[in-house]
Amino acid sequence: LKLAVLVSGGGSNLQAIIDACKTPDYPAEIVLVFSNQLDAGGLERARRAGIRAEAISHKGFEGGREAYDSTVSNLIEESGADLVVLAGYLRLVSESFVTRWEGRLINIHPSLLPSFKGLHVHQAALDAGVKYSGCTVHYVVPEVDSGPIIAQAVVPVLPGDDAGTLAQRILKQEHRIYPQVIRWIAEGRVSVDEAGIVTVADAN
Ligand code: GRF
Repeated sequence: LKLAVLVSGGGSNLQAIIDACKTPDYPAEIVLVFSNQLDAGGLERARRAGIRAEAISHKGFEGGREAYDSTVSNLIEESGADLVVLAGYLRLVSESFVTRWEGRLINIHPSLLPSFKGLHVHQAALDAGVKYSGCTVHYVVPEVDSGPIIAQAVVPVLPGDDAGTLAQRILKQEHRIYPQVIRWIAEGRVSVDEAGIVTVADAN
């Protein structure tokens, strides 16, 4: 399976996927890393791994969100990617982008969706007094952070936690489940029913 991974920041999720792709029997390869931030650390990680890295700043991009996204789509198209992986891509993708890639577009969100959609999720979780949080890998649909849930991981909220300590505990789980979900998709084991419920065949 050919992957296009979209990043905006440090790219620790990208790194986890790069590392997974290095294991011999892993059924996916990254053909493109793209960022909307010219200085995203994820781009450097890609280059170090010998992976094609492209960036286009959305700032000062005339034509607006739709035009920007169609430029990105064209890049992804010509890379030959089969699956678009949002990994810390902090831009809301346009509806036309979702329509073009729906079913082949996934995201990771650092909360147990549908709780805590949007940004600043760790502080929101702490402020709500939840005893558990975690992360969610889901298919992307036009509504933000709302698509069919493929996998989740749970972590405890511990006394004395702040947003940073909670984020770090969740990030470790992100790095575990994202490569796992991509493997499942590559093996053709993930299906979504008409109610948006995901099943993974033979998930050990
Ligand atoms: C992570 O919290 C991830 O859940 C969110 O973006 C943050 C940064 O990810 N999607 P990364 O280190 O850039 O992969």
